[in-house]
Amino acid sequence: MNIRCAAPEDLMNMQHCNLLCLPENYQMKYYFYHGLSWPQLSYVAEDEGGKIVGYVLAKMEEDPEDSVPHGHITSLAVKRSHRRLGLAQKLMDQASRAMVECFNAQYVSLHVRKSNRAALHLYTETLKFSISEIEPKYYADGEDAYAMRRILSEFREKAPITEEVSPQKAIEASA
Ligand code: ACO
Repeated sequence: MNIRCAAPEDLMNMQHCNLLCLPENYQMKYYFYHGLSWPQLSYVAEDEGGKIVGYVLAKMEEDPEDSVPHGHITSLAVKRSHRRLGLAQKLMDQASRAMVECFNAQYVSLHVRKSNRAALHLYTETLKFSISEIEPKYYADGEDAYAMRRILSEFREKAPITEEVSPQKAIEASA
């Protein structure tokens, strides 16, 4: 099993996986919006034959009122045949690390159905998300959502230190 950054040609297979696994589905243009705007943040899990068996579709939150940069998980799913292998955990960690390294994200947020036991267990127990809010009737069928957050300090500590290099220094270094 391999986890890698999603490429534009993966987006249709990600949508297919989403349709198999979740009632929350999105138009293809929304996948492209993610892929074009934040190409570093979405990941796929593929089997030995290169078939997509899981994905995380992620973005940066765009609210200009919000001064703290943070990421958002739009959708996460792993095909039934490949569950409980640690794939969701790895996909989430890869996306979160990229949010910190590429966009200096302080935390990552998501919504999950109150009744989604498996996902809730993954988020609270394994990934250490906490509930920030309950959003009544968030879903189209009237179910409430938990709005959850995970502080990304652990990735910040491990993020490579990128030093600003002045144009003059760059010229000197290459001379
Ligand atoms: N019951 C209880 N705990 C679970 C379950 C489950 N069915 N599945 C995962 N977990 C917890 C466990 O603690 C597990 O560790 P363990 O196996 O060592 O006990 C840990 O999460 C890690 O599990 P992974 O193997 O990484 O999870 P998996 O790859 O199976 O994917 C997922 C979990 C994504 C929730 C999968 O069940 C799925 O695709 N479900 C349908 C789609 C879905 O609900 N997606 C999330 C919606 S919310 C959103 O998209 C933002």
